[in-house]
Amino acid sequence: MHLVPTMVKFVVEYGKDSDPPPPDGRLDAPAFHRNHEPIWSAIAGFLKGQTGDVLELGSGTGQHAATFARRTPRLTWWPSDIYSSHLDSIRAWRRHEGLANLRAPQRIDLTVPDWNWRADDDASGPLAAMLCINVLHISPWRVAQNLFSGAGRLLRADGRLFIYGPFMRDGAHTAPSNTAFDAALRAENPEWGVRDVRDLRTLADEAGLSLFEISPMPANNLVLAFARAVRQN
Ligand SMILES: C[S@@+](CC[C@H](N)C(=O)[O-])C[C@H]1O[C@@H](n2cnc3c(N)ncnc32)[C@H](O)[C@@H]1O
Repeated sequence: MHLVPTMVKFVVEYGKDSDPPPPDGRLDAPAFHRNHEPIWSAIAGFLKGQTGDVLELGSGTGQHAATFARRTPRLTWWPSDIYSSHLDSIRAWRRHEGLANLRAPQRIDLTVPDWNWRADDDASGPLAAMLCINVLHISPWRVAQNLFSGAGRLLRADGRLFIYGPFMRDGAHTAPSNTAFDAALRAENPEWGVRDVRDLRTLADEAGLSLFEISPMPANNLVLAFARAVRQN
């Protein structure tokens, strides 16, 4: 039998190898077209009933923030990323969409332990939600640590942290494709890799959060929703 090796793909910086660049600066992430409706189905129930601020970390092209902001006019969305090319793309999507509730992107680097976000008036109030899509496997473990400690600092009492991506469960991969993806990530950078829900629960615990809901997604991905832990007296 002739076996065709599976292509294991991941993108670090969108548009870097694309030729030619998009004329108006709006980069396109192919995965966005596959995952945004499933992700929306997992987060809409909470977000649609909320007002306040939503911070996205590692927004990439800006397509998720633009799409979800259009669907939640009572929320204000704050996209962010580390690459200037991504910040430019988010600005371009923002211009294109013309949404009052999609704010200018800001540079937030989750390798910085005491990272913070800025509202337009430089204040940074408690957040209704935080969203982080396909970031934790393609960054060092301290990014996950700082995401959770930040959520512990910045989420309001009834807020949620939503994380999307491929995850292990109790030390095991959930599909052969995730095993191959994990190996490819670690070969590219030993600090990267598919994270285990069990380890993220430990980080959540340390930040005063708890795993509220797990939503299965297509292609062996999950949306994990974390909320503030209820104190036991
Ligand atoms: C695979 S892309 C996903 C982008 C976008 N969330 C999406 O799903 O289309 C990973 C993103 O993580 C961001 N990222 C990597 N390291 C980061 C860090 N230390 N702090 C914040 N974002 C980071 C990258 O810039 C990139 O936009």
